[in-house]
Amino acid sequence: MKLVLDCDPGLDDAVAILVAAHYADLVGMTTVAGNVGINRTTRNALAVTQIAGLDVPVHRGAGKPLAGEPVDGSRIHGDTGLGNAVLPDLDRSEASDDAVAYLCDTARSVDDLHLLAIGPLTNVALALRCDPDLRRHLAGLTIMGGSASAGNITSVAEFNIWADPEAAAVVFEKAAPVAMVGLDVTNKVVFGAEETARMRGAGTPAADLAADVTDFLRDRFRQYVGESTVPLHDATAVITATHPHLFERSLHPIAVEVRGEITRGMTVADLRPPALIEAIGPAGVAASDIVWDTDVDAVRELIVEAVLAC
Ligand code: BDR
Ligand code: CA
Repeated sequence: MKLVLDCDPGLDDAVAILVAAHYADLVGMTTVAGNVGINRTTRNALAVTQIAGLDVPVHRGAGKPLAGEPVDGSRIHGDTGLGNAVLPDLDRSEASDDAVAYLCDTARSVDDLHLLAIGPLTNVALALRCDPDLRRHLAGLTIMGGSASAGNITSVAEFNIWADPEAAAVVFEKAAPVAMVGLDVTNKVVFGAEETARMRGAGTPAADLAADVTDFLRDRFRQYVGESTVPLHDATAVITATHPHLFERSLHPIAVEVRGEITRGMTVADLRPPALIEAIGPAGVAASDIVWDTDVDAVRELIVEAVLAC
């Protein structure tokens, strides 16, 4: 599978890059502000490619959401976005500072391209503004984001959607069907001390990085959630794209709340029976796939194996 990864590294993004490079033909990466600012996410993306010895171009993208002020996730991901991992001096630089042009050009020029977005959807929304036909040129569009149940950054909103709800609304409306790999499924695939020990045992720089960021995340989770296992949301989203047969999904109208005082950033999934929706509306809300469940052990193993192979 040919894949472009739009990301905001980010602890779990770092592992996702390694997993994507292992199971897919990772054609390129674009960065977006999210877990930390755009300078950091771009630098981190380059650092991960360097540590893993990946020859993948990194294109810098949006530094702020479509509306409002940037938010960040440094409380969880640390000030650098990669916890306390020691990062090398870079021997490479970004391929361009125009992620949007890269996304539009690549979607048109590469056959069977799959786009996987694991950060706020700003770049994807801007690309849709430039090329309203973007979705037609993609074989698939998968996002890590949203939830049809509880949120993580607010009671109802997941971080990536909440960080740029206007962008997410554009994507769900204009680029459906999207495969929404949200908290419904990603929270099920958790990693504990045993998995990080296995990663560290590989003894390679990339596996060490994966172990470092997973350990850091576990520390933060212990602090904030009181749990010693953590989901690697973005890595699970990669496996959804590369191993779709392992996941259960169903198609539902989804709209993004951009106005609610308490519910801004919520992915509002219409789970009513289709006949009822047809009878009483609202009509015309674009439908996307909600990924609900998976073979948790198989996905966890695929992620660890990818890291061990780096
Ligand atoms: C998502 O938010 C970010 O903090 C993670 O990298 C992931 O993409 C999970 O809600
Ligand atoms: Ca992310």
